Amino acid sequence: MSKTLGQDPSAGREVAPAAAGTAAARPGSPEAARIVVTGKGGVGKTTLTALLARLLARRGLRILAVDGDAQMNLGYALGVPLHEAEAIVPLNRNADYIEEKTGARPGAGWGLLLRLNPDAEDAVDRFAVRAPDGVQLLTMGTLSQAAAGCLCPENELLGAAMSAIALREGELILLDTQAGVEHFGRALARGFGQALIVSDPTFNGVGVALQTARLASQLGIPALHLVVNRIRSDADLMRARAYLRRSPEVRFTSLHALPYDDVVLEAEPSVEALLDGSRSPFAAAVQRLAAVLLPA
Ligand SMILES: Nc1ncnc2c1ncn2[C@@H]1O[C@H](COP(=O)(O)OP(=O)(O)OP(=O)(O)O)[C@@H](O)[C@H]1O
Ligand SMILES: [Mg+2]
Repeated sequence: MSKTLGQDPSAGREVAPAAAGTAAARPGSPEAARIVVTGKGGVGKTTLTALLARLLARRGLRILAVDGDAQMNLGYALGVPLHEAEAIVPLNRNADYIEEKTGARPGAGWGLLLRLNPDAEDAVDRFAVRAPDGVQLLTMGTLSQAAAGCLCPENELLGAAMSAIALREGELILLDTQAGVEHFGRALARGFGQALIVSDPTFNGVGVALQTARLASQLGIPALHLVVNRIRSDADLMRARAYLRRSPEVRFTSLHALPYDDVVLEAEPSVEALLDGSRSPFAAAVQRLAAVLLPA
């Protein structure tokens, strides 16, 4: 039974258990190991993605972290050394690779023969960067343009790379996306079995989360987890719940409240200092979230 948060005042402060008997409760399925992180701007998507990646890598899982945000800051959050992170060329600007796969260079103009649906299976092996704890980082560049559907070489390549990623097995994939819902379409969601929909306890944050949940549900993502981050007080939590109650038809698989935590800011740009868990209430709550995403 999944929880309708807006109607359930007893939903746990930290965690409401994952719904039983739904596709969400199929731990170990390949789809469940592909998790897309989405939500309004600045709510903590990248921080959460990086911390989950590092924590789970330390448990021995193979992790592929995918940066789908034009700002490309997942590398810094994962703890990739600054000079290495700065040198990363995202797939959508890797002109040689784009030409190799599609037969055309970005911006080459019309009249070129563009190879559609190229095979980009080798993108991870060739271009992923190794972050601490063995996390692999693939930097895609702006997925929103690809979602817009323009017929150009870089978007063809990004679409192909997303399709190839959605077929990977034997590793956990965490996809960090850029803010908003505009990019969140079928191409991006294909193959992903869980969505972490991140919000803060504001009207706008929860509004974007609800909109994303409706979209994700239409796209057929089976498990939708709502993460309300930067909670400072019970009043924050109550406010978020009140906003959710306005849309009782939106059902989430689980609810998580992550505390506001100065240690997160002190740790910037990397999540490194959060990893031992002892000093950071945020990290402790993310550990519990990880247990719901990937039950033992
Ligand atoms: N629980 C928290 N407590 C305090 N600060 C936090 C918390 N979570 C995130 N932050 C801080 O909030 C800011 C935004 O976080 P982050 O970059 O992870 O958000 P984002 O959703 O990825 O943003 P964008 O939409 O720009 O990609 C950062 O400065 C981060 O350190
Ligand atoms: Mg981000």
